[in-house]
Formats: sequence, C-alpha cells, structure tokens
Amino acid sequence: MSPFIDNRPVILTGDRTTGPLHLGHYAGSLKNRVALQRTHRQFLLLADTQAMTDNANDPDKVRRNVLEVAFDYLAVGINPAETTICVQSALPALAELTLLYMNFVSVARLERNPTVKTEIQLRGFDRDVPAGFLCYPIAQAADITAFRATLVPVGEDQAPMIEQTNEIVRRLNRQIGRDLLREAEAMVPKVGRLPGIDGKAKMSESQGNAIPLSASADDIRNAVRRMYTDPTHLRAADPGKIEGNVVFTYLDAFADDRETIEDLKARYRHGGLGDMIVKRQLEDVLQAMMAPIRERRAEYAAEPGHVLEVLRQGTFAARNRTQATVDELRNALGLFAFS
Ligand code: TRP
Repeated sequence: MSPFIDNRPVILTGDRTTGPLHLGHYAGSLKNRVALQRTHRQFLLLADTQAMTDNANDPDKVRRNVLEVAFDYLAVGINPAETTICVQSALPALAELTLLYMNFVSVARLERNPTVKTEIQLRGFDRDVPAGFLCYPIAQAADITAFRATLVPVGEDQAPMIEQTNEIVRRLNRQIGRDLLREAEAMVPKVGRLPGIDGKAKMSESQGNAIPLSASADDIRNAVRRMYTDPTHLRAADPGKIEGNVVFTYLDAFADDRETIEDLKARYRHGGLGDMIVKRQLEDVLQAMMAPIRERRAEYAAEPGHVLEVLRQGTFAARNRTQATVDELRNALGLFAFS
C-alpha cells in the first residue's frame, strides 16, 4: 500500500473507560477490530469524556481505565502502526463540535432515544439525569463525524446513536447547503452478545459475571467451574440442554474444532455426558486463547510510559484530523476564525 494514497474506508469506534475489558468485548468487537485494521483506516477512541457522563463522581476511575483499556487493545493485537488509538478528552475539536451540534437537536429528540431512555432507567437518574448524559448521543455524533468515519462497528444497542448521528449530519448539511458531513453506517457484528458466566443476557463487570482479559489461569478455572449450565441436568446420565447453556455458548464462540463440539453437544443432549467433561473442554480452550493475551497485557502494563507514548502520538494524529473537520464546518457556518 502506498503511504500517500489511502482510500480505505474510515472506521471509528471506541469504549468508555470505566473498567478493563472482558471476554464479551473480545468476542463481540475486539477480534473484529484486529481483522479490520488491515483493510480499513481505523481509529479507536478511549472514550473518557463519555465515561464522565455517568461517572462524574469518580474521575480518577475514568482516568485510570484509559490506560487499562489501552493495555487490553494492545494485548489482543491492535497494532498502533495500523490503528490510531486516541484519548477523547484530549481532542478539543470533539467538544467544540458537540457544542455546535447541540443547537440542532431538541431535548425531546434526546429523550426519545431508546438506548438513552433505558440507560437513564437503569441508572435510576429519573429527573436528575446529568445534561452531559442526556446529550451523549450528540457527543457521539461529534466523534463519528469529526473523524469523517463512514463505518462504525458497534453493538446492536448503539444503532440508535448512528441513526441520530445521521439526522444531525443531514440537518447540518441542509443548513450549510452542501454535503460537508458524511453519513455513517453501523456495522453490527454477526455474533450475538456473549452472556455472563451466570447465564444473564450480558457479560458486564458491574454484574460480577465477566471474565476480564487480564484473568489469571486460576480466575479462568474458577469462572468455568461456576458457569451456568442446564439446571435440570442433575446426573450425567440425564439428557441435557444446549440452549441457554453458557458452557456450550462459549464453546461455540471460541472453539475452533467444530467437530468435537458438535459431538459433545450430541452426547450431552442424549444423556451420559457430565458437565465436568464439557467444562474441562471449555477451560482448555479459554486457557489456550487467553494465556498469550494475558502475557502480552502484563508486558504492556509493565511499560506504561511506552503505552502513554502510543496514546500521545495517536492523539496528536487525531487532533489534526478532527480539527480539520471543525475548521471546515466553522467556515461553512460563517463563524469567526481569527486565524
Ligand atoms: N458508546 C461507546 C461505548 O459505550 C463508546 C463510544 C464513544 C463510541 N464514542 C464513540 C463508539 C464513537 C463508536 C463511535 O462504549
């Protein structure tokens, strides 16, 4: 690839820096990002500003986890020579765009965003929702458009954010009379969401049902032991259920040897196969997959100065790119630049 011409489609995605990433992130997005960095121009945003929208009382946690998430990225194989990793709060252009966009979105529209609605309920904000939280879809539209991204790989729950982004794009383009901003498309992964080890629909650190990417071999062994299977499968001789059985769900997500898994499933359904055997199989798969990730993660964590330098360089590159978008938009809107 010529270093001067880069026609690859532009991707932006990222994570709130509220805690280290886990196996659910790996299955749902990280693995995908490692593959996409070869074919796409990819930017990864460490979304600490967005993390602040519901963690204003704990900025220290938000700051700490910028590095933790960066360790996770690098450990799974995100390559800073291919992917630009940057820190959201250190990109003033994103804040400026957010402020401009706020004038083109009504409060009623924000309150109708189904994801935000559910999240407000989950957090018990009720009428006391922070303005920053209510407005985070606008900030996310700023992120996406500032990078001029056309593809946004996100989970299904983020689809309303892309929809709202595109409304803002169309509204602004209409205002300035040309297509300065680009609409974006959500890339929703084909694999479904990984359930927590307790069988609950979502793996989440706050639910205590997650396996972090930094899990030790013992952590992994214990997590698999505690894993939810088929509660009616009491004796090995009994027929067991595969659907909703977390051990099989994880085997489907992570085991390469399909034949062995299908064979295990058949025997489990039929009866005569105990949970312990299946769990041992899963433990082997997870230990083999996670050991290199854990080792690389420990190496990066031992060199935080090196990782900070990666973030500094990524953020500088992103600063130029995002500032260029703001400059164009300010110009198109006729705001004073004084430069
Ligand atoms: N909302 C994403 C999350 O919950 C993080 C994020 C912030 C993001 N800005 C983004 C994702 C822009 C995609 C594009 O983790």
